[in-house]
Amino acid sequence: MQDFLRKRPRRNRATETIRDLVAETTLNVTDFVMPLFVKDIDGQEPIAAMPGIFKFGPAALLGEVESCVALGIKSFILFPAIAERYKTPDAMEALNPKGLYYNTIRSLKAAFPQICLISDIALDPYSADGHDGLVVDGKIVNDATVELLAKMAVLQADAGIDIVGPSDMMDGRVAAIRDALDKAGHTQVGILSYTAKYASAFYGPFRDALDSAPKAGDKKSYQMNPANSKEAMIELALDVAEGADMVMVKPALAYLDIIKAFKENTNLPVVAYNVSGEYAMVKAAAQNGWLDGERTMMEVLLSIKRAGADIIISYHSKEAVMVLQRQ
Ligand code: PBG
Repeated sequence: MQDFLRKRPRRNRATETIRDLVAETTLNVTDFVMPLFVKDIDGQEPIAAMPGIFKFGPAALLGEVESCVALGIKSFILFPAIAERYKTPDAMEALNPKGLYYNTIRSLKAAFPQICLISDIALDPYSADGHDGLVVDGKIVNDATVELLAKMAVLQADAGIDIVGPSDMMDGRVAAIRDALDKAGHTQVGILSYTAKYASAFYGPFRDALDSAPKAGDKKSYQMNPANSKEAMIELALDVAEGADMVMVKPALAYLDIIKAFKENTNLPVVAYNVSGEYAMVKAAAQNGWLDGERTMMEVLLSIKRAGADIIISYHSKEAVMVLQRQ
């Protein structure tokens, strides 16, 4: 027996110290981006399918960011919950510089100039149709939408955003946004492109939270088919050529192969978005006592990083950082 077992991989797993020594992947506080939801309310509102995550009024949001900053989280991605009365077919509230979203960017950056604040660029929070683009005769039109998205980017930059995040999946938007930012003098504002964003059921809790689900149809004519990985490489090549500074795969956990392919095919930072439904699954199972919530959370996040993500956007960010600080 001994003769055949000169190789014993278990030696490298013998003690916790050896296991830590040979660990190939570690999570760090600087890997994480915390999503934030802002709504025109006093205080905060829970989100049913996302226990522990809230929509914050503008004042309460400052407190939330302060508590994240105290934990060492320095990067945030901001989403608005817009009141129904401001939603129109032309999504014009998206270009109101005095609107909730731009005011929030200004107040967050004034209170916490050191944070990295990332935006969302898409029409769905403002659209009466609940689509990321303009709807004309039942179709999502590309080029007219891109013009609006580029204007949003400039307004967000005017308000002080560090990095803009087009999440709409229109063709050509990264180039249009880069041009518009540069023309407006915002040459230092970066673009985190939602490069491979799939038409996913995992966005359910997010759409419920923002009341932003499509009123008719689905998002399959712009978001990608979960069946495809080569198409993700077409999107990657385009976003790199158009001037993206960071490229995203979304969702994360069911798309680890795409994350890995991105890591192997670009030198840009690869961002993974561990989305609302992925968070909800872990929380629901943990609440039922069916999974150990904390261990599952850390395994999910570690696996996303192992697959090749340099940066992880996750609703677990705050909790995960607390766990890391205990270790
Ligand atoms: C909107 C947007 C969505 C998410 C981020 N930006 C929803 C969608 O595309 O329908 C989903 C995030 C999540 O589920 O956590 N363009």
